[in-house]
Amino acid sequence: MDVRFSTGGGDGIAVTLAFSDRGLPETLKAAAEARGFTGKADETVDLVVADGAVARRALLIGGGPQADFTPVAATAAGRHLSAIAGLGGQALDVRGVPDAVVAAFAFGVLDGAYRDDRYKTAPPTPLAPAALTMIVDAPDACTADFAAMPALAEGIAAARDLANAPPNRMTPPLFADWCRALAIPGLDVEVLDAEALAALGMGALIGVGQGSAAPPCVVVLRWSARGGEAPLAFIGKGVTFDSGGLLPKPAEEMWDMKYDRAGAAAVVGAMIALARRNAAVDAVGIIGLAENMPSGAAQRPGDVVVSHSGQTIEVLHTDAEGRLLLCDLLSYARARFKPSALIDIATLTGGLTSVLTDQYAGLYANDDALAASLTETGEACGERLWRLPLGEAFDRMIDSPVADMQNICKVRWGGTVTAAQFLKRFVGDTPWAHLDIFGPAWNHGAKGRHGATGYGVRLLAAIAERQAAQ
Ligand code: BES
Ligand code: MN
Ligand code: ZN
Repeated sequence: MDVRFSTGGGDGIAVTLAFSDRGLPETLKAAAEARGFTGKADETVDLVVADGAVARRALLIGGGPQADFTPVAATAAGRHLSAIAGLGGQALDVRGVPDAVVAAFAFGVLDGAYRDDRYKTAPPTPLAPAALTMIVDAPDACTADFAAMPALAEGIAAARDLANAPPNRMTPPLFADWCRALAIPGLDVEVLDAEALAALGMGALIGVGQGSAAPPCVVVLRWSARGGEAPLAFIGKGVTFDSGGLLPKPAEEMWDMKYDRAGAAAVVGAMIALARRNAAVDAVGIIGLAENMPSGAAQRPGDVVVSHSGQTIEVLHTDAEGRLLLCDLLSYARARFKPSALIDIATLTGGLTSVLTDQYAGLYANDDALAASLTETGEACGERLWRLPLGEAFDRMIDSPVADMQNICKVRWGGTVTAAQFLKRFVGDTPWAHLDIFGPAWNHGAKGRHGATGYGVRLLAAIAERQAAQ
C-alpha cells in the first residue's frame, strides 16, 4: 500500500478522525450523533451526507480522548481502518494530530492491511485500499516521520508469513531456503546444515529434530552497519512444528503448533526491518530450526544429550524441546560473536498465559539495565513485557541425578520459570534477556482475527536502535 501526506485532495470518500473530547465536525455532527457515534476509540460510523446536490460517503473513526491518542493507540486505530471494507482512493483527514502520531496511525493502516491468502485458490478481494492519502498540517514532517515505517511493516509481514505457513510448507529446510532467498543488500544470510551442527557439537538442538524426516538447521543473519564488533544477538526458537515428540500433545493443543516458530520469525522480521531501514546498528540473528516429531528415530524421555556448551542434559520430557534448541544457540552465539547482549525470543511455555494473557510477553533477565530498556521499549511500541524472577531455588529444581541438568522440573507448577532458569545456565556473564511470547505471538481466536501477530519485530528492531544510540 502506498501512503502519501498532503494538505488536501483525495477524490474518494472522506475519512475523518474524531476525538471524544473535541466535538464532532459540524458538517457530520447531526448525522453521526443520530447513529450514536461519540468518538470513542474503536468506534466507526459510515455515513452518506449531502454535499450540495450529490451524496457523498463519509467515514468517521473514533480516537477516544485526544490526550490518550498516543502513537500506540493511533496504530491500533489505523489497523481498525484497514479492516473496513470498500475504501479506495480516499483521503483521511487527520489535521490537528501531531506528526509522530500521524505516522503511527499510517503505520497501523499499513500493518492492518496484511492478509495471508497464499493457500486459497480464489483469494478474496483485499479489504485494504491500494493507496491512502492523509490530509495533514505538515506533509513534509509527516513524510519524514513515516519514512521508517514501510521497513517495519515489511519485517512484520515477513514474520507473519513465516509463522502462518502450514507446517508441511515450512519445514526447517524450507524456512532456511526462504531466508536464503531474501537478497537484501548488506544482510548476510548463512545456513548451518545438520552436518555443520553435528560438527559444532549442538547435541541438544539435534536431538529435538532427530525424529523428523526433515533435518534441523540453523540460520545466521548478520547486519553489520558499524563493523560488526560485539553485536546485539537475537536468538529465535524455530520449531517448525511441535507435536510434543514421543510425549505428544492432545489434538486441540497440537493444532496451533506451527506457531512454535514465531520467535524465529520475529528475529528474521526484525533483521529485515533493520536492514531495510539501513539502521546504524550491529545485530546478528540466530535461529534454530527443527521439527519435533515422534518416530523410531525420535529422542526418548530419559535420553542424555551433550549440549554445545559441553554441559549434559537429561531429556525427561520430549515436549520441553524449546529450551534444548535455544541453549545450543545461546552458547554458540557467545562463543562465535562475543555479543554485547543476548536476547532470545520463543513460544516457550504455555503456562505463562494464565498470568499474563495475550497482553504481555514474559521477560526474564540477568541484567537489570537490559530488562528496563526492553520494558520501556515495549511500552513505547505497544509490545509489552512483564518481568518475572529467576533465582537459586528455581535452579535447584532442574538438577538431575543422572546428568548436569534435566529439561523439566518435576514439580508440577514450576514449568515456566524453570524453563528460563534452564537457559540461564548457558549465558555465563553476558547480559541476557529471555522473552516468552506464547501469549502475544498469535491471535488466539479473539475478535475474529486469525494467525500470527508478528509480535517481537518492532520490539527487537527498536531495542537494537536504542542500544546503539546509547
Ligand atoms: N511450544 C510449547 C509451548 C506452548 C504450549 C506454546 C502451548 C503455545 C501453546 C513448548 O515446547 C511446550 O510444549 N512446553 C510445555 C513444557 C512442558 C512439557 C514442561 C508446556 O509449556 O506445557
Ligand atoms: Mn513442546
Ligand atoms: Zn515448543
